[in-house]
Amino acid sequence: MKMKGFAFLICCFFIAAFTGCYYDKANLVYPKAPACDTTNVRLSVELNNIMKANCFSCHGGTADQGAGIQLEDYATIQDFANTGILMSALIQDGSISPMPKGAAKLSDCDINKFDAWIKRGAPQN
Ligand code: HEC
Repeated sequence: MKMKGFAFLICCFFIAAFTGCYYDKANLVYPKAPACDTTNVRLSVELNNIMKANCFSCHGGTADQGAGIQLEDYATIQDFANTGILMSALIQDGSISPMPKGAAKLSDCDINKFDAWIKRGAPQN
């Protein structure tokens, strides 16, 4: 009988030792914002969504506030991508008119997505 009680206590100790601290791990209870995923960035999906929210009001469809620059046209954005103009505008390095014009700079994650796509050759994907 005594041994059984002891074994029970040992069991309790191990259960507590291996499970007790789980909820104290802040990164498990409050996971950080997901890391910026720049693998497989597609012009037609991820970048299109960013530009829909930040660029096409001037540079898309029939918008006429973008100095005639139509970023929905692949050849146009490809050219700005490959000449470095697009990145200079987005990181706002001072050499090119900063974009999005009249609004806050894009988030680092959004800029990194453009960067990753350009480094992969700015494909029409
Ligand atoms: C409010 C309107 C507006 C928005 C929004 C806007 N642009 Fe522009 N963009 C312009 C205008 C106007 C120009 C012509 C240059 C100038 O006047 O600054 C321009 C120029 C550019 C150029 C060419 C720069 C050069 O000097 O050759 C690029 C590339 C560009 N925009 C990309 C973007 C991107 C990418 C976004 C979204 C992140 C964006 N723009 C958002 C109005 C806009």
